[in-house]
Amino acid sequence: MKVLLIGSGGREHALALAISESKHCSSLYCAPGNVGIESCSELVDIEVEDIENIVKFAKDKVIDLVVIGPEVPLVLGLADKLQEAGIDVFGPSKLAARLEGSKGFTKDLCKKYNIPTAAYGRFTDIKQAKAFIEKQNVPIVIKADGLAAGKGVIIAEDINSAIVAAEDMLSGNSFGKAGAEIIVEEFMEGAELSYFALTDGKTILPFMSAQDHKRVGEGDTGLNTGGMGAYSPAYMMTPELEKKILTRIIEPTVSAMQKEGCPFTGVLYAGLILVDGEPKLIEYNARFGDPECQPLMMRLQSDMLEILYATAQGRLDEIRDLVKWSDDPAMCVVMAAKGYPESYKKNTLINGLERTADIQDLVIFHAGTAKNESGQLVNIGGRVLGVTAKGENLLEAKNKVYRAIDIIDWPDGFCRRDIGWQALTKSRTS
Ligand code: AMP
Ligand code: GLY
Repeated sequence: MKVLLIGSGGREHALALAISESKHCSSLYCAPGNVGIESCSELVDIEVEDIENIVKFAKDKVIDLVVIGPEVPLVLGLADKLQEAGIDVFGPSKLAARLEGSKGFTKDLCKKYNIPTAAYGRFTDIKQAKAFIEKQNVPIVIKADGLAAGKGVIIAEDINSAIVAAEDMLSGNSFGKAGAEIIVEEFMEGAELSYFALTDGKTILPFMSAQDHKRVGEGDTGLNTGGMGAYSPAYMMTPELEKKILTRIIEPTVSAMQKEGCPFTGVLYAGLILVDGEPKLIEYNARFGDPECQPLMMRLQSDMLEILYATAQGRLDEIRDLVKWSDDPAMCVVMAAKGYPESYKKNTLINGLERTADIQDLVIFHAGTAKNESGQLVNIGGRVLGVTAKGENLLEAKNKVYRAIDIIDWPDGFCRRDIGWQALTKSRTS
């Protein structure tokens, strides 16, 4: 099979490696990719938003399957355009991607189909938003409706700051068009986890849980980021909890999307919170998590390309019961440029990756990397490396990851040293 992967992050490096290892893969292209992805695919110089040229490339090369990594091309309708051209695609249509692209759409869907989530209101008018906010308890959550690169959520501790946040969003100051509509939402208190499920619109393939670490600072403090580290499975996952997530949240969503005439295909990434032990939906994403995808790919023991292709072709029922996972947990720790998620230096030198080669079951996934004119590895983004390892238990995985991080020589980089803290304080070896 000829495969084209869209994206350039650590998530895409993990997907690229898994696809390239498939016995069915004859060629793998990645647009635009990164230095790490180049080691297992041919890079194509097309940006992820350039729908027209992606479709043209896929047609010219007679690509069998396009795998879309990030949300932006999904929301722009890349999957629809590829399907119109007769090309199989892993990733939802533009209408189905509203599950990520419009928080209001998702909230209304949850309400209509009784999917547990926070109480909310949708507003485009500041006067109405203000009147609603004034009647709520604090803390209260204000969200931009559209895509805001993970930054469109404000948890306000008092009514005044909630109104200021609503004003900022609705005036277009903080998130441009993405904030033209806002959601005002009840604050939910509890432990969070990420849950993944593949679906072809009918059949569901549970695809494991993970624990992300969104805050930049140790002890989950400081600014929100795209994710500073993740491990799989999530520490609170049990067969009972998984059953609740599937029957109360994932299955009703898949059938609701079918009933609404926009069946969802691809990966549903549910951001969940346990309120008094019961799972509630915070939000959906229509793609794999980054960095959650990295530990998932380390644990998967089946052929990822077969799984992606069956999902794209509506044949998940054929392979659902054949997919195998390692029971061993895996952990990814993100090395970011000092200053991230605010401003940071680019083109700083990174050395020593090759000195980690003897650590078993360890992969260093690349995100914001490039080669400078002298061919040296440098950073061009904020999140730069995803150091990922599998171990007999989480502590072993963690020790391998930090051993590698201590070998890597990047004076301008940093990472959180406490990834996995919730699981590892609960039990030293779980
Ligand atoms: P999101 O971008 O929707 O995942 O939100 C980012 C983060 O904000 C989540 O991971 C939660 O920690 C927090 N959050 C969002 N909505 C709520 C809510 N209704 N109650 C409590 N925390 C929330
Ligand atoms: N790790 C969070 C995300 O991918 O949105």
